[in-house]
Amino acid sequence: MKRQLIAGNWKMNGSFAANEVLLRVLAAGMGGATCQVAVCVPAPYLAQVQGLVVGTGIELGAQDVSQHEAGAYTGEVSANMLRDFAARYCLVGHSERRQYHGETDAVVATKAQRALAAGITPIVCVGETLAERGAGRTEEVVKRQLAAVIHTNGHCISEIVVAYEPVWAIGTGKTASPQEAQRVHAVLRNQLRAATEQADRMLILYGGSMNAANAAQLLSQEDIDGGLVGGASLKAGDFLSIIAAAH
Ligand code: 13P
Repeated sequence: MKRQLIAGNWKMNGSFAANEVLLRVLAAGMGGATCQVAVCVPAPYLAQVQGLVVGTGIELGAQDVSQHEAGAYTGEVSANMLRDFAARYCLVGHSERRQYHGETDAVVATKAQRALAAGITPIVCVGETLAERGAGRTEEVVKRQLAAVIHTNGHCISEIVVAYEPVWAIGTGKTASPQEAQRVHAVLRNQLRAATEQADRMLILYGGSMNAANAAQLLSQEDIDGGLVGGASLKAGDFLSIIAAAH
């Protein structure tokens, strides 16, 4: 059985003091965790968290990466900069980036390639909005978003992690039912199978109001290989419960 990945997405939260407390409690409570664990932190905290996770088994992730390699792109952070902090993962195409920063499928695909080129595993986020879901377009939307990443020439797409995050479930307390989520994950798995022989060992995470109460059922689904956790990853006890529910 492949190991699941539970990744926390802190979004724009944290402080030196809060990060330290959170990571110390997580590290102390992680004993016996059988899954992989990562935290995706705001860029200014990469150095601090890089130091705090040493020897804990928790891996470091970033929340975004520039589509450009280097140069006159004020405010951007490059993949090579993330590598300087030994980031293992980087979110790309999170719905909040697509929604508030106008990231297109093509931009997301370029970002995934930048991460791969720097030896960082991109966690590629896909997911439909409530309106798209209402119109019965869930499959079409997630397949289009993933196809853009799969069909960009360059570094091997079997090295990506995929995260299915229905936009209507993010931060709303609404989750896809385990069966609904599994159905979409199976669609994504088949799409990966058509592109690479490695599809069955690739991780497809679920995200969207995953919490201590619903994690076990979601994580027991055949094609759900872990979670991308927002709000609950900021509460050590809740995040540890989700970690304990994974394998
Ligand atoms: P919530 O867990 O807060 O719904 O956020 C999910 C998410 O967007 C993770 O990337």
